[in-house]
Amino acid sequence: MKNKILLLAGILLMAFSACNRSDKKVEALKHAIDVAEYQLKQSAAEFDTTQLFPRSWKADKFRAVDAYDWTSGFFPGSLWIGYQLTGDEALKSEAEKYTARLHEIPAYKGTHDLGFMVFCSYGMQQAIENDEVSAAAIVEASNSLSSRFCDSVGLIRSWDFGPWNYPVIIDNMMNLEMLFWASRHTGDKSYYDIAVRHADNTLANHFREDNSSYHVISYNNDGTVESKGTFQGFADDSSWARGQAWGLYGYTMSYRETGLERYLEHAQKIAELIMNHPNTPEDRIPYWDYNAPNIPDAPRDTSAAAVMASALFELSTMVEGELSQRYFDYGETLLMALSSDAYLAKKGENGGFILMHATGHLPANSEIDVPLNYGDYYYLEAIRRYLGLRGIDPLTL
Ligand code: GLY
Repeated sequence: MKNKILLLAGILLMAFSACNRSDKKVEALKHAIDVAEYQLKQSAAEFDTTQLFPRSWKADKFRAVDAYDWTSGFFPGSLWIGYQLTGDEALKSEAEKYTARLHEIPAYKGTHDLGFMVFCSYGMQQAIENDEVSAAAIVEASNSLSSRFCDSVGLIRSWDFGPWNYPVIIDNMMNLEMLFWASRHTGDKSYYDIAVRHADNTLANHFREDNSSYHVISYNNDGTVESKGTFQGFADDSSWARGQAWGLYGYTMSYRETGLERYLEHAQKIAELIMNHPNTPEDRIPYWDYNAPNIPDAPRDTSAAAVMASALFELSTMVEGELSQRYFDYGETLLMALSSDAYLAKKGENGGFILMHATGHLPANSEIDVPLNYGDYYYLEAIRRYLGLRGIDPLTL
């Protein structure tokens, strides 16, 4: 009897794996992982003898940046996720090397982007290696980020440049994940309290009636609002696509970290805005701004799509039934579009980046219709989350 049960279990397992293998979506992701492995190695070799990181690429020219650029953590982070998806030890050793290039950053207090820079790099190292070096880096960076919190304003200051008194951008929500981790790791609740006050005040001031968000809110020193506008979007009252993606991801993550229902409710409202937006093109990869003037000819932003897909996969785990399926399905649609020939690079092309057709800062005429290292990072994270939700171990692909 026992043997028969084992045999049946074996047959079911084989049928299940065969089913996985023949699934076109999984096949597409297997190909994407193969491309990613190749591209990541090519880029790692390209910058091997430098202290730089690939940020974007256009007309055969790299934009390479040093550790102090806001995007410096994404390439090391992509190498770590590449390792998770492939088990390729060469990627792991590149990930260690590129992460170590950021060793000065945890002490840097000049930007809110420390979460992106340190938690996508050392944070991934910590998730995989559980080592003391990365833990210390994350705690130090959390202290530096916390130094940018002003009690009377109730938020972390995003930038030290520009015409604003106290600018806070929607992107800043992403940097809270590191503070939540530091609070858990050290047992010091002050990191958590800063993150929750920042998320609450952003919730109160950054969003419009229709749940779209401004990019930049500037505050007076007493915490009242000085101005509401944009820096990277089309107009002060437009919906910059990546800003909507940062908000969705930020509140989904904040619910995961706190269990506070108001964050879940808000993430769901942003998800509805994104999933039902009338200016979304057929393949769902958003234009760089939902109110861009030259839709349907406006440039797309695959980086926003990758962030949205990754966030929607997580959001799908926080609710049940039809709603969960809707988030998952929309994320899957985005992921499959990104994995098609229209957006996924061919091996050896696209300057070693994985996704094509992202937009960095269009009003500044900067990084339009290019690959961007953060698009690649969130794309790989979305692939990992998707396979995880489907119960597929990427190492068996
Ligand atoms: N955090 C800057 C950007 O999304 O372009």
